Amino acid sequence: MNQEKNDLLLDIKNLQVSFKIGKKKVIKIVRGVDLKIKRKQIIGLVGESGSGKSVTSKSLLSINEFDITEAEKMMLYSKKSIDNDEIETVDLLKLKRNEWIKIRGKKIGYIPQDPLTSLNPTRTIKKQLLDVLKNDPRFSSKAEKISYLIDLLEKFGIRNAKEKINHYPHTFSGGMKQRVVIAMVVAARPDLIIADEPTTALDPTVQASVLALFEEIRTNYNISIIFISHNISVIAKFCDYIYVMYAGKVVERGTKIDIFTNPLHPYTWALITSIPEDKNEKLYSIPGTPPDMANLGVGDPFATRNQYAMEIDFKKEPSLIKVSETHSAATWLLDPRAPKVELSEQLKKRIQFFRKVFNIND
Ligand SMILES: Nc1ncnc2c1ncn2[C@@H]1O[C@H](COP(=O)(O)OP(=O)(O)O)[C@@H](O)[C@H]1O
Ligand SMILES: [Mg+2]
Repeated sequence: MNQEKNDLLLDIKNLQVSFKIGKKKVIKIVRGVDLKIKRKQIIGLVGESGSGKSVTSKSLLSINEFDITEAEKMMLYSKKSIDNDEIETVDLLKLKRNEWIKIRGKKIGYIPQDPLTSLNPTRTIKKQLLDVLKNDPRFSSKAEKISYLIDLLEKFGIRNAKEKINHYPHTFSGGMKQRVVIAMVVAARPDLIIADEPTTALDPTVQASVLALFEEIRTNYNISIIFISHNISVIAKFCDYIYVMYAGKVVERGTKIDIFTNPLHPYTWALITSIPEDKNEKLYSIPGTPPDMANLGVGDPFATRNQYAMEIDFKKEPSLIKVSETHSAATWLLDPRAPKVELSEQLKKRIQFFRKVFNIND
């Protein structure tokens, strides 16, 4: 029990985020999300655009604008400092506006989709990186900081960093800019990094090399990562645990093996089926569009797009049902009264493929 507690980094229960639109209207965007992250774990948040991934993760930094954030629990069990394993419990719900400064960047880092959100075009990257290390007790001189930063940039794939560090952001390519941002976020050695679609804006040819850095961050720096992507195939590569989001809720969660070899929710089925694979195969796309969060009716918001929807789906939203220690899904198909459904041939093929990838034999 104590061991488990020491392993736990973030524990969120029933997170709800609403936005005020104008004076009266309040739209609920995140509708009760539970999220647990262990140390050194990479968790994936996946779902189509608009499902609430960014709003969920930004609430961990209190950087959503005009929001009302509520939860039953929002705890961060952070290390006192890099070389002190003692745990400090931070109740994120109780933090005052000025106290977030101690969390943002220092305990929880954020890598946005567009590196230019984090980089100031008018300052050299050396100046910007040095800002991150302001008042950092690990260093006794500026020279020490600079040599640490050069080393870090080199480690994250910036060749000739000693010279490049004096340059302005615009002299770097998109992929290189994102590498600088990653180095900048890691420099402060946070406990957790939120990477929100960090490669979506990059050229597909450089995406893979940037993605590979996340595995290094976890292994070499003991940092946990929340990796957000609308693309489930990106998540498949390195996330230990996956949360599938739809309309502001988690509709399925499980280990990478649970999700890819035994998916249970029709929405997860659709995401997996729509992974582009064979150029000759007709690409499946999920019918319909994500719901309007301002006008959610009764029932399961996915029902209208769900070919397996039953009467109950239009009347009552299903809650998460636990099917194993690690795996849960919110679908009426798990109800004992539900008919058995046949998966599409395409999906069966994909599942077979992932079983091979993960070395699972029948
Ligand atoms: N500042 C805001 N005010 C009102 N609605 C917002 C705001 N930011 C995001 N939303 C809405 O919240 C929903 C979820 O957005 P988001 O978390 O960005 O989705 P994702 O990251 O999964 O694409 C969307 O419907 C979006 O329109
Ligand atoms: Mg987003």
